[in-house]
Parts: sequence; C-alpha cells; structure tokens
Amino acid sequence: MAYAENINVELGKRSYRIVIGSGILPGLGGAISENLSKTGKAALVSNPTVHAIYGKAVEKSLRRAGYQVITVLIPDGERYKTLKSAELIWGKMLKARLERASFIVALGGGVVGDIAGFAASAYMRGIRFVQVPTTLLAQVDSSVGGKTGVNHPLGKNMIGAFWQPSLVWIDTETLKTLPPRELPAGMAEVIKYGVIKDRRFFSYLRDNAEAVKRQRPAELTHIVAASCRTKAQVVSRDERESGLRAILNYGHTVGHAIETLTNYKKYLHGEAVAIGMCAEAEIASRKGLITRPEVEQIQSVVEAYGLPSSLPKGLLKRRDIANAMTLDKKVLAGEVRMVLPERIGKVRIDTVSRGDLL
Ligand SMILES: NC(=O)c1ccc[n+]([C@@H]2O[C@H](COP(=O)([O-])OP(=O)(O)OC[C@H]3O[C@@H](n4cnc5c(N)ncnc54)[C@H](O)[C@@H]3O)[C@@H](O)[C@H]2O)c1
Repeated sequence: MAYAENINVELGKRSYRIVIGSGILPGLGGAISENLSKTGKAALVSNPTVHAIYGKAVEKSLRRAGYQVITVLIPDGERYKTLKSAELIWGKMLKARLERASFIVALGGGVVGDIAGFAASAYMRGIRFVQVPTTLLAQVDSSVGGKTGVNHPLGKNMIGAFWQPSLVWIDTETLKTLPPRELPAGMAEVIKYGVIKDRRFFSYLRDNAEAVKRQRPAELTHIVAASCRTKAQVVSRDERESGLRAILNYGHTVGHAIETLTNYKKYLHGEAVAIGMCAEAEIASRKGLITRPEVEQIQSVVEAYGLPSSLPKGLLKRRDIANAMTLDKKVLAGEVRMVLPERIGKVRIDTVSRGDLL
C-alpha cells in the first residue's frame, strides 16, 4: 500500500472513510471488518465486464475476512440503470436471506454504484453499503456524496435516495483496464474541482498531465485523493444540495444540453462536461467575470487531457443549446442559473440572460 491516502467525510453519525491507494483491492475484506462489522453476509453487486476482471479478487478478500458472499450481476450499461435491476438485486438478497445487518459491496462504475446504493437504501428500510468504484468518474465523483438512484422512462436519475456509503475503497490500479475514452472523461470532473475550488490543484494538473495520463501511481492517487477531498468538503457542508453543492454543477448546464441534443450518443458525460466548462468560462468572460488568459488556461488543460474544448463546427446551433438550457430545471424566469468562474479556483452562481448565451 505504497500510496494509500485516507479522507474522512464528516456527516455526524453518517460519517465515513474514503481510502485511496494503488493495488489495495485485496485489503477490502479486512477494511470492512474494521469499519463495518466482523461477521455477516455480503451481496457483491457488479456487472459481467468488471466482475470478469476484479470479481474473484474481491470475493476472495471478503471470504478471507469471514463473510458469506453472494454475487449479483446486472447487465452492463446505462440502459440497465432501472428499477428492474434493483428488483433483481433485492430478489437475490431475499432468497439468500440477507438481513438488516448484512451489507452490499458495489464493484464497478457509476451505474453499478448508483443502483447498488439505491438497492441498499431500500432493502429492509436501509442497510449499509461499500463503494468500490472502478472508473475515474466513479472514483472522483459518483461514489462520494450519497446520491443513489435509477432512471425512469420519463427522466434520468428520477427515482432515488440520499444514502451514504459506510466506506469507499478506491484502488487506482483498476483504471488500467478502462476503455480508452473513460479516463479522459473522468478527468473532466477532476479539472472541474481545480476550477471551482483549488487553484493550486489546477496548476498541479497543468504541470503533471503526462504523468497522470501514463497513470503513474503517485500522481494518479494524488489527483483522485484531492478530488475526493474537495467533493467531501462540499458534501459535508451541504449533504442534500440546498446551496453550496450546486457549485459541483460547473460545466454541467451546457454539458447537459449537449448530451440531450446529441441523444446521449456522441459524447460521454465527461466529454460533454469538458465542452460545457469551456463554454461556461466563455460566458463568464463575456459577462466580465473572468479574464481571457484564465479562460484560455482552462481550455488548454482540458485539451492537455485529450478532451474536446468546443463543439465541431456545424454540429449544433447555439440557439438550440440555449433553448435546451432554458428548458432545464435550473431556469428561473427566463434566465439560466449557472456556475461561472470568477477566476481559477473560485466560482459564483449567477443568472445568465439569453443574450449572454447566444
Ligand atoms: N451518484 C452521483 O453522484 C453521480 C455523479 C455522477 C455520475 N453518476 C452516474 O454515473 C453513471 C456513469 O458512470 P461511469 O461513467 O462510471 O459509467 P459506467 O458505470 O457505465 O462505466 C463505464 C464502462 O466502463 C466499464 N468499466 C468500469 N470499470 C472498469 C474497469 N476498471 N475496467 C474495464 N471496464 C470498466 C463498465 O462496465 C462500463 O461499460 C451515470 O449513470 C451517472 O448518472 C452519478
């Protein structure tokens, strides 16, 4: 465990630990017995893709620590983030007689984490769960903060619960097997933390792009830990998104409009957020909030990580993007509320008129 880092998410009785390290997967069972309970039954929830690579190691670690393990695999993909998948998990857990003292281990990306967390929130009115995120997006974003849920035919993430994990166990070595577009896509959220709250971290990302892209353990662990620390701070102060937590939406208002208009097909979420961060920085500059050189620095770090900083010419019309945003839930009396950078490391939430969007 050469590079393990520990972060506490302070939420009173619901506080929990995030542990980040390179090659720490075999230590999971031991960590659960220190943090949750010494004995009992566990449901390992994963998908066939991730389970084929890491499932055996996790099952072995849990069994060695003394737990009885059942494994539930849900099909791979966002379209399976449904109540039906949650029902499949509940059915297997009931058949295997998992109790209120049992727990779920979510092994996979954000899709698995969101469904498994939701399944934990409602099984026998709520049992504990452990996040073992295996995509960069899940490690720096979705596994921390307690938002869980599934999609409904009428909207994404519409059915869910705030349900905090009892432990988040992050092995950065799992990122080595990710499909090629997934690492840069996760980097969009990492860069976001630098822009919204941490100028020094932003500079670190600029100066260490090659080492991070080559997945050097020390640098990778550092950036995941720094990201989790920022998310943990924000979430501790605003667990249920009544104010501060909204700053995490930087890049997401434009990003979401792009995802909607391209039917969630052309861009991964992080790629759309990358374009969104650059576009929102442009809007901030047009409103006189941020200087041009700082906007260019954001664009250049986005590009350094292999992410798009703008839309290809002719793909979408500005007017359509503006329309999509004014249909978004963040709209207040015809104006869009948006997270805008004032400088790198500091953002404010402001209203943007249609004129500023076009
Ligand atoms: N709860 C939150 O706060 C929150 C925040 C952001 C996003 N999300 C949700 O996260 C989801 C997206 O998560 P994602 O980007 O991780 O996508 P994902 O879970 O679909 O994973 C992407 C792909 O990578 C594969 N994979 C995962 N880990 C792997 C590994 N180590 N090696 C090889 N393949 C691997 C998966 O099987 C999948 O095919 C969305 O549903 C989104 O709504 C939730």
